[in-house]
Amino acid sequence: MRIIHFSDSHISQDKPERDKDFEACVHRANSISPPADVVIHTGDISHDGHRQEYATAQKILEKLNIPSFVIAGNRDNRTELINTFADGQYIRRGDKFIQYCVNEFPVRLILLDTVNASGNTGSASGSNKGRFCSERLAHLESMLAADSSRPVAIFMHHSPFEATAIPDPFQFERWQEVERFHELLAAYKQVAGIYCGHIHRNAGVAIGGIRIQAITCMACDLRKGELTDKERSEPVINVIDLP
Ligand SMILES: [Fe+2]
Repeated sequence: MRIIHFSDSHISQDKPERDKDFEACVHRANSISPPADVVIHTGDISHDGHRQEYATAQKILEKLNIPSFVIAGNRDNRTELINTFADGQYIRRGDKFIQYCVNEFPVRLILLDTVNASGNTGSASGSNKGRFCSERLAHLESMLAADSSRPVAIFMHHSPFEATAIPDPFQFERWQEVERFHELLAAYKQVAGIYCGHIHRNAGVAIGGIRIQAITCMACDLRKGELTDKERSEPVINVIDLP
């Protein structure tokens, strides 16, 4: 199964060039061979949480030849995201979290909500760090326990590992929640990989034998780290091939 991972498009009414960055990623996703089965966007879809930014993102995602699924990042406004992307099945109006399992592919896709209470207002105030409370952890456990016969790929916005290459390596408010997350995964053997964004750079580790991969952002102007001109300007999609 081939999955394409997008992250951090940061669509902004003030930065129309990011629409072009997003469109370039969609074009690349549509062009790869063999074709992918699905696209997952791991959040920071919008930069300021405005309704119009989600409408723009939706219009661009509709150009994909394959289905796509989204979750929230700290810059997203959960309510506006839900209002735009609610499909009544995976994302539903009134849901407290945007966290769900897609069962329609050979690999099950589990999409997690790591956004904290203050980070989902679309404003730059408050912490941009993640949370993974006991309610979300219990929901994750129920999704894992529902089917142990197929591999699972987990997608989330915040990186659940110590990113040693950056000034603040811990991207969650409470690191104990990340430790509980990894303890839970250790009890289930079907997790094939964890894919995230948020840190705006490529990084990867393995914890408990599970590969965890963070990708840099679709928005070219927000990429971090030492980059060549090509790395700073090319469309970024992460192609994940799982058996
Ligand atoms: Fe971001």
